[in-house]
Amino acid sequence: MKDLSPKKDDLDPIEIASRDEISALQLQRMKKTLAHAYDNVPFYKAKFDEAGVHPSDLKSLSDLSKFPFTVKTDLRDNYPFGMFAVPREEVVRIHASSGTTGKPTVVGYTKNDIDVWSDVVARSLRAAGVRKGDILHNAYGYGLFTGGLGAHYGAERLGCSVVPVSGGMTARQVQLIEDFKPSAITVTPSYMLAILDEFKKQGIDPRASSLQVGIFGAEPWTNATRKEVEDAFDMHAVDIYGLSEVMGPGVANECVETKDGLHIWEDHFYPEIINPETGELVEDGEEGELVFTSLTKEALPIIRYRTRDLTRLLPGTARSMRRMEKITGRSDDMIILRGVNVFPTQVEVQVLAVAGLAPHFQIELTHQGRMDEMTIHVEATPDAATEENRALLSKALSKKIKDNIGVSARVVANEPGGVPRSQGKAVRVIDNRDKG
Ligand code: DLL
Repeated sequence: MKDLSPKKDDLDPIEIASRDEISALQLQRMKKTLAHAYDNVPFYKAKFDEAGVHPSDLKSLSDLSKFPFTVKTDLRDNYPFGMFAVPREEVVRIHASSGTTGKPTVVGYTKNDIDVWSDVVARSLRAAGVRKGDILHNAYGYGLFTGGLGAHYGAERLGCSVVPVSGGMTARQVQLIEDFKPSAITVTPSYMLAILDEFKKQGIDPRASSLQVGIFGAEPWTNATRKEVEDAFDMHAVDIYGLSEVMGPGVANECVETKDGLHIWEDHFYPEIINPETGELVEDGEEGELVFTSLTKEALPIIRYRTRDLTRLLPGTARSMRRMEKITGRSDDMIILRGVNVFPTQVEVQVLAVAGLAPHFQIELTHQGRMDEMTIHVEATPDAATEENRALLSKALSKKIKDNIGVSARVVANEPGGVPRSQGKAVRVIDNRDKG
């Protein structure tokens, strides 16, 4: 793999500023954000008043813990534009979550918000090793989802030639990579694995492709998948994190030179970790739920937003800003199976540890009598797909899951192509417990 580490001179000064400088900037911006939210969004005024706090109570960063949390349903309750802090005419862009259950969550951006977003995505891509002049193949979905346009504007800001492919039509993805020879790709990790399959199907050696770095996010993925993709393509695989309520992609990003967790761009997004049950703050280094307060957003200032994502805060390394560990999972994705907590990422690690299994999987939950049952659907690689072999693979994975996660799971090893492929965010858990 090529050394893609950025030069120190290329970084924004704040990326290598002292902790004191960062904190001073955060405090000044946090005061402004709290006042902006309180003065312009009736929801925040009512919430703060009810909790007996006023923006002027914030004297230090730690005072933020006196302020109430914001949750996803607050955005839904104020559908569509009730959380906006500027006149609607100043909102130049609207995105929304897919809203599979209930109303979608709507977010808005002023011109300045789009500018800041482009800057943080450009910073993220640079941290991943992308440079001005590179060709970037953007396979995040375009539309209401923030992935496509978010990555697009950031890549343009950095000075890349952006190929706005969006998700889907996998054969064409491979053809465009072969013909345009991009050095960078932005895509969900699960769809990158589907693209890898397509390379093999077309008889093209992925290691000979032009790709040098992939910037993967929008869903949890593990270091086992990182290794899988890096070995298959001879490229770097770097993690990008974000969520629409806070901005979109580019809230935090890994540095290609260290790949040791994601540096949070703390000059724009203030992180806290709380105990998800009690809401109490936990120390840096302890695992809990990630909470964000925006520091510069105009259209949709967001105060102490509970992400449901589980991680830990760690000190800075390649940059002065703090890191978050790779996300373990979302608290809503946690499966409790006969008293044991299981995250899809734990299953992912085990699937990738069995030679002969492809890196695709889906977890199905059912009721068996009064007990919950977990079935893991996987598939054999083409060279290991005989019926006999698939029975052995099922056994091997079942044992690994028992030994390493501590639960009994039924494993179904399908023929190649037997597990549905994602074209964006993978659906990892199918809950059939209420059915049948
Ligand atoms: O997924 C924004 C994004 C687009 C991030 C492209 C990175 C790349 P939402 O659709 O609002 O926004 O979903 C946000 O996705 O709360 C996490 O649960 C999950 N997520 C996003 N990035 C990561 C990541 C976009 N790197 C939700 N690792 C978040 C794990 C991630 N989970």
